[in-house]
Amino acid sequence: MSIKGTENPDTWEAIYQTNDAGWDIKKPAPPFEELLERQPDWLTSGELINLGCGRGHDAAFFARNEFNVTAVDFAPTAIAGVQEYSESLTNLNPLLGDILQLPSHLNDSFDYVLEHTCFCAIPTTKRQDYVTAAFNLLKPEGILFGLFYRFDPADDKGPPFAISEEELRQLFEPKFDIFLWETPKNSHGRRKNRERLIAMRAKK
Ligand SMILES: C[S@@+](CC[C@H](N)C(=O)[O-])C[C@H]1O[C@@H](n2cnc3c(N)ncnc32)[C@H](O)[C@@H]1O
Repeated sequence: MSIKGTENPDTWEAIYQTNDAGWDIKKPAPPFEELLERQPDWLTSGELINLGCGRGHDAAFFARNEFNVTAVDFAPTAIAGVQEYSESLTNLNPLLGDILQLPSHLNDSFDYVLEHTCFCAIPTTKRQDYVTAAFNLLKPEGILFGLFYRFDPADDKGPPFAISEEELRQLFEPKFDIFLWETPKNSHGRRKNRERLIAMRAKK
């Protein structure tokens, strides 16, 4: 897939339509289930937005756990998956749109921004735009958290585009205070040791 292709919703839509979405584990990410079981004091119910939500398995999981969830993706088939979940979850709102061009009325609206294999789907030249988008969506002291993928030596073989731990810190630390950084033990399949569970508070 070319870098240009990753910016194009049609590229992702075509993958969903051919049932070739290899990243779709068809259930919530196990590290998210474990995280909620731990009941961290920083993760209580509130307004949550899931960026690049895919078919919505994580979004539905957080909605079932009493968060008010907005789930955004620019691929219509992904959003159709979220809509199926939302039929029985009134606190789950599907939103078709580009996470880097969301309407400004959403700014300062969310207690949480949820990440799961979306950051690695964004072209490396747009990473700063992702940071800005997540920061703008959050209320003061809101929290960006999730599973960031993939920590391998840098290459141009994405998506998923690799990043180093140092690079990720340099990118986010001007706008966020990072307070959780773990390598989950229960990552799905080939993601073992290649993803990090990270949480950071917006400096606003
Ligand atoms: C690797 S998939 C991950 C999907 C989901 N988070 C999951 O774990 O199943 C990346 C998702 O991000 C979406 N995406 C990529 N760039 C996007 C953008 N700029 N705006 C909205 N969605 C985007 C794609 O359509 C795709 O559904």
